[in-house]
Amino acid sequence: MRILSGIQPSGMLHLGNYFGMMRPAIELQNQGEAYYFIANYHSMTSLFDAEQRRQNVLDVALDFLACGLDPERSVFFKQSDVPEHTELTWMLTTLTPMGLLERCHSYKDKLARGISPNHGLFAYPVLMAADILIYDSKVVPVGKDQKQHVEVTRDIAIKFNQQYGDTFIIPEPQIREDVAVVPGTDGQKMSKSYGNTIEIFGSEKPLKKKIMSLVMDSRGMDEPKPDAEKNIAVQLLKLVAEPELAKDCEDQLRAGGYGYGHLKKALFEACWSYFEPMRQKREELAKNIDFVQEVLSKGAERARSVASAVNNRAKNACGLD
Ligand code: ADP
Ligand code: TRP
Repeated sequence: MRILSGIQPSGMLHLGNYFGMMRPAIELQNQGEAYYFIANYHSMTSLFDAEQRRQNVLDVALDFLACGLDPERSVFFKQSDVPEHTELTWMLTTLTPMGLLERCHSYKDKLARGISPNHGLFAYPVLMAADILIYDSKVVPVGKDQKQHVEVTRDIAIKFNQQYGDTFIIPEPQIREDVAVVPGTDGQKMSKSYGNTIEIFGSEKPLKKKIMSLVMDSRGMDEPKPDAEKNIAVQLLKLVAEPELAKDCEDQLRAGGYGYGHLKKALFEACWSYFEPMRQKREELAKNIDFVQEVLSKGAERARSVASAVNNRAKNACGLD
């Protein structure tokens, strides 16, 4: 079974990225042949600074390796090192109805936020379809917000298979319901584009400040809070703390007499210690960037041998041979 996922190098990774996508992807390494890549072509739709992109790619690579991606077991690479992705994108794009892309939530959200769209932003899901189909991927671990993009991929693959004969495997999204949507500091989905993130490798002081300034309601400390499970800090605590500790804090909040300040302090401490071993590993890796570059270039070589075979299969199917 082939597993594939990607992440854009568009800024510091946060708890939503980690619990929604990175951790499930890392856990799946043992269950099949995993391909994970840094989607630097995708980042071109919204980031226009070359040096920043270079730096972000390196940061994501360090983050992923520090969090447990094992380059011996998984194929880890940069998207742009496998240019067949863009070649396949063109073949797919000619079978993609405009309406399918117009309906994509992530595109519509960006328009609603006043972003003036470039063609790449509109065609984003087709490049993502090529990323997935070019490895004959079966399982795609992502957060819930990417589900529709995987559905678009399925539609395009089915259409291609009908038009040109069986060529692609039809993939499936794999979404962990327990962490499908990690809330941000304002209660909306945590996202770099909403400015409500808690970074996994931020430094201690800013992290503490961010957590301590989480906005809570105005109920007094003594008041019982029967809806404790809805509290953002409780929800985040469940992700990073030992289950007994998270349950204890939630119970105390429910009972009353437990202040939000204590809760936030517990969240900060749990968050800091959860990522401690990974932070140390990241520091080690950062001293050896050559190793990281080598992992990516070896990964690209392995990825490219699969991608070029599938790309040729698609070219043959549609008469481009
Ligand atoms: P962002 O919204 O911060 O730009 P990305 O779109 O780059 O994040 O997401 C990268 C991966 O992390 C995707 O698989 C996405 O589904 C997952 N992800 C991002 N934010 C969350 C969240 N708040 N909850 C769960 N998964 C998330
Ligand atoms: N669109 C994904 C995101 O923003 C990143 C991505 C690009 C991806 N290509 C992919 C995810 C292929 C899974 C499979 O998070």
